[in-house]
Amino acid sequence: MEARIALLPGDGIGPEVMSAAVRILKMVAEHRGHKLHFEEYLIGGCSIDTFGVALTEEALNACKKADAVLLGAVGGPKWDNPAASVRPEQGLLMLRKELGVYANLRPVRVHPALVHASPLKPQQLQGVDMIVVRELTGGLYFGKPRLREKTPQGERAIDTLEYYDFEVERVVDLAFRLAATRRKMVTSVDKANVLESSRLWRQVAQRVGERYPQVSLSHMLVDTASMRLISSPASFDVIVTENMFGDILTDEASVLAGSMGMLPSASLGNSNLGLYEPIHGSAPDIAGKDIANPVGMILSVAMMLRYSLKLEEEASLIEKAVDQVISSQQLTADLGGSLTTRQMADVVLEYISKT
Ligand code: IPM
Ligand code: MG
Repeated sequence: MEARIALLPGDGIGPEVMSAAVRILKMVAEHRGHKLHFEEYLIGGCSIDTFGVALTEEALNACKKADAVLLGAVGGPKWDNPAASVRPEQGLLMLRKELGVYANLRPVRVHPALVHASPLKPQQLQGVDMIVVRELTGGLYFGKPRLREKTPQGERAIDTLEYYDFEVERVVDLAFRLAATRRKMVTSVDKANVLESSRLWRQVAQRVGERYPQVSLSHMLVDTASMRLISSPASFDVIVTENMFGDILTDEASVLAGSMGMLPSASLGNSNLGLYEPIHGSAPDIAGKDIANPVGMILSVAMMLRYSLKLEEEASLIEKAVDQVISSQQLTADLGGSLTTRQMADVVLEYISKT
C-alpha cells in the first residue's frame, strides 16, 4: 500500500523519539513492500521561533491531506511565559480541533517485566489492561467564553466547560465499540454530582449504552475514579471521559506502566486520518541527551499502522518486538536501564529483522 505521513517532531525530546520511531516504521514498511511518503513540519516552540506561530497554515493543510500524522511533543521553559500570547500548546490544540480527532485512545498495560518499576505493589498491577478514551476536541480546553478581565472586585478569569450532546455521543459510542472487542466493560467518568455538563454526559452515555446490551456500563465520579485507578487498576477495561478529566487521569495511570515514556496514544475522528503521539511531554531536562524512552512513540507508530493504515499485522509485529525487548530487560534510563534512545530503537529493529 501507499500512504502519506506528516511528521511533526516538535520540541524537546520530540525529535529524538520521532527519529527512533520513524527508523522502525521505515524498516517495517520496506519489509512488507509498503510505500510511505514522509513530509516534516514544525509545531510548537520551534515553529514560534521560526514563523511566530505554533502551527503554520501550510503545516496544518499538509496534515489534513495526509493519511496519518505523527507528533513528538511540544513546549518547554523557553516559551512558558504566562503573559505570552503565542504558546506552543496552541499548535497542538488547533491541530486536534482542525483534524476533528475527538477521541484520544490511551491504552495502559503493565508489562510483567516492569511491575517493579512502578511504586505500586506487584499484586495490584496484575492484569492491568485498560484503555482510556479521552474526549479531545471539547470541554474546558475549547469552551467559550475564555477570558481575563479587570473588574472593580479584582482581576478575574473564565474558562468554560461546555459540551453538546452529539460531542458526548460520538466519543462514548467509540468507547463502546472498543469495549465490544475487549472485556466488554465501559466506565464513564464524570462529576455529575456537581457539574451540569456531567449530568448531560451521564444521560447521553446511558442512552448510547442501550445500543450495546452486550457491554456493561457503569458511571463513576472522577474523584472516585482517580482513587480506583491506584487501588484497583485491573478492574477497568474501557474508561471514557471528558477532555480535562482524561488528561489528568492518564498521567496518573502512566505510573502503573512504570514510566510516562511507555504510553502511546491515537487520536481518531470520523475518517481514517488519525493523529498519533506519545502521552509524555517534551521533557526539556533530558532533551538532546539521547536518553529519552522512545517506546511511547514507537507504540504510537504501531497504533497508526492499525487505525489509519489498517495494517494490523505490521502493528502487532512492532508491539511484539517492543514486548520482547522489554522482557529481556533491555531498558532506557527512566526504567533503570542503560540503553540510549538510539540503542533502544536498534534492539527493536534487530528483533523485527529476525522475524
Ligand atoms: C497531553 C498534554 C497536552 C494536553 C498539553 C501539552 C496541551 O498534556 O496531551 O496530555 O493537555 O492535552
Ligand atoms: Mg497531559
